[in-house]
Amino acid sequence: MLRNVTATRYITPLREGGSLPGLIESDDLGTYVLKFTGAGQGRKTLVAEVVCGELARRLGFRVPRLVTVDLDPVLGLGEPEQQVQELLKSSGGTNLGMDFLSGALGFDPLAFHVSSEEAGRIVWFDALVNNVDRSWRNPNLLRWQGEVWLVDHGATMIWHHNWPGAATSAARPYDASDHALARFAPDIRSAAAALAPLVTEELLAEVTARIPDVWLLDEPGFATPDDLRRAYARPLRERAATIHERITTQGGR
Ligand SMILES: Nc1ncnc2c1ncn2[C@@H]1O[C@H](COP(=O)(O)OP(=O)(O)OP(=O)(O)O)[C@@H](O)[C@H]1O
Ligand SMILES: [Mg+2]
Repeated sequence: MLRNVTATRYITPLREGGSLPGLIESDDLGTYVLKFTGAGQGRKTLVAEVVCGELARRLGFRVPRLVTVDLDPVLGLGEPEQQVQELLKSSGGTNLGMDFLSGALGFDPLAFHVSSEEAGRIVWFDALVNNVDRSWRNPNLLRWQGEVWLVDHGATMIWHHNWPGAATSAARPYDASDHALARFAPDIRSAAAALAPLVTEELLAEVTARIPDVWLLDEPGFATPDDLRRAYARPLRERAATIHERITTQGGR
């Protein structure tokens, strides 16, 4: 499980995010970016954040630390904005928090340089989890303390929206033409050689164990949260072996 904190104050919405993530303070005196269980796509987005964030961290990427956040909807009572109040009201219970990287800059592919090695690792990882949300228009990468940090893994693993078709969906290629780092000549082959062997059954079991049970309950076709955890692990293990052969960029590979 992830470390758990309790929200003590809602500070402000983060204007950039489509799902209206907010900044909160918590009982451990931390400041976290909160992703609400009551937001648009609901808890599957949060599951994707946990699986991909924790997997990325174990593969050596920089990802803000994740926690679960207990939220009492009463925190929303004083919110002047209707949309924020609704979100807080519908998100009682377990939400997702991530360390707020204070002073981080949005990654601008025209202003920052990334080595072909690092670009290759990130593109390979995004292909593995089928991340459709790391385009040059919306990189979901931050620049903090001189390094690149990965955020926003909510739009990944499209197969978890249709489990009966998951195997077919996970066998599809990954289109990296629009990827934020496509311009840095990503060395995907080296990345695959280094990272794919690390994506073992044991590692994926450790990663999926971090998903809170409450976000895994009542999924049609799965009797227990652990059955669903195994379903999350399987396509990733299978994709790790060969996805580098199925990454397309404009004009070929
Ligand atoms: N941990 C963090 N520390 C600092 N800033 C962050 C952090 N996480 C997110 N942000 C900022 O907030 C923005 C919105 O967050 P995020 O992309 O996770 O939300 P979203 O609602 O899923 O967004 P999208 O509109 O891309 O779907 C990010 O682009 C980034 O600028
Ligand atoms: Mg985003």
